[in-house]
Amino acid sequence: MAIARRRFVGMGAALIALGSSPLMALPRLDATRPFVPRHPGTDPGGLQVSEAFLEARVRPTKLFGQAELPLWTYHDDILPVIRVPRKGRLRTHFTNNLPEHCSIHWHGIRLPNHMDGVPFVTQQPVEPGDSFVYDFELPDTGLFPFHSHCNTAEQLGRGLAGALIVTGDETRPYDADLLCVIKDWRLGENGEFINFGSDEDAARGGTFGTHRSVNFETMPTLEAPAGGDVRLRLMNVDNSRINQVGLEGALDAAIIATDGQALAPLPFKTWRLGSAMRLDLCLRMPKTGEVVKIYDYFAPQPVLLATIKAVGPGLVRGDFNPAPLYAPDIAEPDLSDPLFRRVEFSATATPTPKLITLPDGNRLNIADELCLNDKTFWAMNKTTWPEDGHKRMPAPILTLQKDRTYVFELINATPHMHPIHIHGHTFLYLKSNKRSLPKHFTDTVLLKPKERIHVAFKADNPGDWMFHCHIIEHAETGMMSILRVV
Ligand code: C2O
Ligand code: CU
Repeated sequence: MAIARRRFVGMGAALIALGSSPLMALPRLDATRPFVPRHPGTDPGGLQVSEAFLEARVRPTKLFGQAELPLWTYHDDILPVIRVPRKGRLRTHFTNNLPEHCSIHWHGIRLPNHMDGVPFVTQQPVEPGDSFVYDFELPDTGLFPFHSHCNTAEQLGRGLAGALIVTGDETRPYDADLLCVIKDWRLGENGEFINFGSDEDAARGGTFGTHRSVNFETMPTLEAPAGGDVRLRLMNVDNSRINQVGLEGALDAAIIATDGQALAPLPFKTWRLGSAMRLDLCLRMPKTGEVVKIYDYFAPQPVLLATIKAVGPGLVRGDFNPAPLYAPDIAEPDLSDPLFRRVEFSATATPTPKLITLPDGNRLNIADELCLNDKTFWAMNKTTWPEDGHKRMPAPILTLQKDRTYVFELINATPHMHPIHIHGHTFLYLKSNKRSLPKHFTDTVLLKPKERIHVAFKADNPGDWMFHCHIIEHAETGMMSILRVV
C-alpha cells in the first residue's frame, strides 16, 4: 500500500544519521566482536529469587464484548506478564486445574533440561489437580513467551500463554516500554470457539484465526510520551499466522533486538514474525495527539493491529539515535572449526504408525502419549515425529557433542514458511540463500519457501531438546524432532 511505503521514506535519513554514530562503524554486525556494549555489571540480579504462581484453568471471559469464551489461561490476568531482573532466579509454582494434562514451556530460555516443560520428554505431564515447581536462573535478558507443549493447537488456541521479560539490558532508559502480544482467535459467527485445526490447513500453512488481537484485545490503543523514544516489544504467540509488522506515523524506528537479543540499532522497515518470534524496536513518537499505527502487511490489505497515542506535553529528544541494548550474554559460537549438519524440512507421504510395540511387548498408542495428531504431513530429514520404531520415544534426529560448535544448514524443501525453533539453545543467524539479514541471535528462525539458512550455535546445554516448526499444527503433524546433546 502506497501510503505505508511513503512513511518509510524517513528511514533512509535515519541510516545516514546513524552512520555518524560510532556504533555504525561496523558495516555489518560481526559476531566475533562485541557489536553492542557489554553489560558492565557481572550479575545485577544477583541471587534475587522471584516467585510466580500460575494456575492453568478454564476462565470464562468476555474477550471481545461478545459471548463469554471458555479461555484456558495460566492466571486471572488472562495474559500474564512476568518481569525478572537479569541473572535472577524465577521460581514458578504451577498448578494444573484444566480437564487435561498440561505443562509450561519457557520458550527461548537456556535452562536446565528438566525445567523445559515438554511432557514425556523433559518431565512427566502435570495431570489435572497436580502441581510442579519450575525453578531456574535466567541467563539472558529480553522477551520470551511461555506456553503449553501438549495438545498445543487447542491449548494455545484457547489462550494458554504468557510473556516473560528479563530486564536489565538497557544502556539508558527509554521514555516508555510497551508490550504487544499478537494472536488470532478461531471464533465462529456467535463468537464461540471453532475447530482449532484441520487436516487440510495443517498440510499447508496452518489453520488461521478469524479474529486478530493484540494483548488479547481488538486493536487496542496504547499511550506513550509525545516526542519520546519508546521501546516497543512485539511478540507473536499465534498458532500459525506469520505477521509482517510495520509502523505508520513514527518519526523514526530502529530494530534493537531479535528474539530478545540485542543487535546494533538497525533502521526498521518491516519484519516478519512467525509464531513465537519477537522483535524489539525503538521508535520516535510524533507530537501530542498524533498516533503511531502498528500494521500487519502480510495480508491483501494491511491489517491494523494496535495504535500508540502520543500523550503529554511533548519531549524534545534531538536527532534519532536509539540507545542500543547491552550485548547478549550468549557465548558466541566458535566458527573456526564447526561441525556441519544439514536439516531438511519437507512434506511426507508416509503415515505415522499409530501403535508401537514397547520392549515388554505391550502396544502403546503413541498418538495419545506424545501429544500427536493421528496424521502426519511433515518431516525433518525424512523422519516424522515420531519415527517408526519400537521404543517409547523417537530417536534423536541428531546427537551433538557437548560444547562443540555446530553450523546447521536449515533447508526448506516445501512451498510453505516454517518458523524453526530450537529448545535450550540460541542460534546465531549467519546467512541465507534468499536474503541478506544482519547477523543476529534467534531461537526461532523463519524459513521462507525453498530457503536455506545457516545458523551456528554452541551445543553447551546437555539433554534431549525439542527442535521443531512453531506452526503448531506442523509440529503436531510431523515437523518435530529431538536433538540430543551429550
Ligand atoms: Cu515455543 Cu517447542 O516451543
Ligand atoms: Cu512449519
